[in-house]
Amino acid sequence: MDDKYKKLTNEVGAPIADNENSITAGARGPVVMQDVWLMEKMAHFNREVIPERRMHAKGWGAHGNFKVTHDISQYTKAKVLQLDAETDVFIRFSTVAGERGAADCERDIRGVAVKFYTEEGNWDLVGNNTPTFFLRDVHNFPGLNRAVKRDPRTGRRSPQNNWDFWTLLPESFHQRTIVMSDRGIPASFRKMHFYGEHTFSFYNEANERVWCKFHFRTEQGIENLTNEEAAAINATNREYMGEDLFEAIENGDFPRWKLYVQVMTEEQARNHYENPFDITKVWSQKEFPLIEVGVLELNKNPENYFAEVEQAAFTPAHVVPGIGFSPDKFLQGRLFSYGDAQRYRLGVNHNQIPINRAKVDVNEFHRDGFMRVDGNYGRTPAYTPNSDGYWTAQPEYLAPPLEIEGAVWNYDPKDDPTDDNFRAGGKLWRLLKEDKKELLIQNTANDIAPVTENIKYRHAVHCYLADEEYGRRITEAMGLSLEKVIELSKLSNDDLIERTLTAKM
Ligand code: HEM
Repeated sequence: MDDKYKKLTNEVGAPIADNENSITAGARGPVVMQDVWLMEKMAHFNREVIPERRMHAKGWGAHGNFKVTHDISQYTKAKVLQLDAETDVFIRFSTVAGERGAADCERDIRGVAVKFYTEEGNWDLVGNNTPTFFLRDVHNFPGLNRAVKRDPRTGRRSPQNNWDFWTLLPESFHQRTIVMSDRGIPASFRKMHFYGEHTFSFYNEANERVWCKFHFRTEQGIENLTNEEAAAINATNREYMGEDLFEAIENGDFPRWKLYVQVMTEEQARNHYENPFDITKVWSQKEFPLIEVGVLELNKNPENYFAEVEQAAFTPAHVVPGIGFSPDKFLQGRLFSYGDAQRYRLGVNHNQIPINRAKVDVNEFHRDGFMRVDGNYGRTPAYTPNSDGYWTAQPEYLAPPLEIEGAVWNYDPKDDPTDDNFRAGGKLWRLLKEDKKELLIQNTANDIAPVTENIKYRHAVHCYLADEEYGRRITEAMGLSLEKVIELSKLSNDDLIERTLTAKM
């Protein structure tokens, strides 16, 4: 043990003589106010719990590095993505719906947030283990969380709320199919792919932009759990996935993922058959092949869970020159939410916490605020512009301008004639082998069993619209009438919702 940990002091370094016996007035008398060490100890203890993340509350982290093995400089000038560049990373894996104490092996998507400590500042890629998402407008995000989390009356999780919400948003269909498939319960964080999901952008030295998507593909092989396997694990070990990650790294079995990108030119995006900025859609890998970039390896466990994993703060707003955003309106909404949530969860100066601090000089000149612990830039001027040349912007890093046309308006993507919410889910169904198809049907029937019929019909209709066989088999498994599903499938989305409202069925 390090000698510095041997002798107990109070929080300002004075020696503590007794850490067992309160100071009392007489051997059997009450505690006195002057037991200031007791007050300090209890007051600190009373404040130790910080707010959990609004979603993705349960998570596990690890350190590692990322190495670029292929040249993609024609697309991006980001130094972190130049050939042979090596960059330290910190990664946090999570479940989404469960609270901080939830069991690891629940059916859910898994979050994967990567912080790259690049020489041009931190780049955070905050993704999931699915290439798509349930929603495409930020307006629906609070609803999703309330529907998958606890019912306001019972305080319990509610499949009824969950499926009601999902089925009222047909764009969630593809993601619903993925979550109900074998991929809904990964056996290990090490054994799953993960994705940036959104369309992002790259720009190169000549300031030419392309659109891109990020794919991390596991080198450990994919492995998932059945409902029965997961239930047995959750009954005895709620920290199964955290333990698996920690032990693998501790034993030198370092997990690796290869990073690939898909790239679409601005011209291709203008002519694409569906909205390339809609996160509920995916880009075909045949049309936009995966381009290999590099290898991510995790090789060091955190020394302290709270300091590193709980206090880690990731945000899609943190990009570096050469990597940018896109018109994806869901991404645009996220750009605000994360920093805002972290200012509440960790405080306005959370980027000074060591796990979040960039490994390059930070010259942002924000001042003051709770828990400012870095000297606050001393005597340097706190205003800009100033005559001394402090804090000057760097226009050489301006991203290329983006031409946009159209009126400012509340556009509903369902009014877009190219919008097809069932194509991707149907394609996925047809790609599945028979045993995976059967698992998807059984998982869905099991999950949706406690839900009312009107909602089951909505889901069955969506499956039918995606693929006739998928619709027929799910209808049978849920014990519904195929005739009615076929009749309902001829309605518009609005009419389907109208016909399947609780009062109508
Ligand atoms: C508009 C939609 C979304 C909003 C408003 C939103 C908001 C948030 C917020 C507020 C947090 C907690 C942040 C914190 O306290 O540190 C969070 C966590 C997270 N979100 Fe989202 N989110 C959205 C969509 C997504 C999508 C599409 C993905 C994946 C592509 C995603 C992945 C994650 C992950 C991985 C975390 C956990 C990060 C960590 O490990 O600390 N979110 N989200």
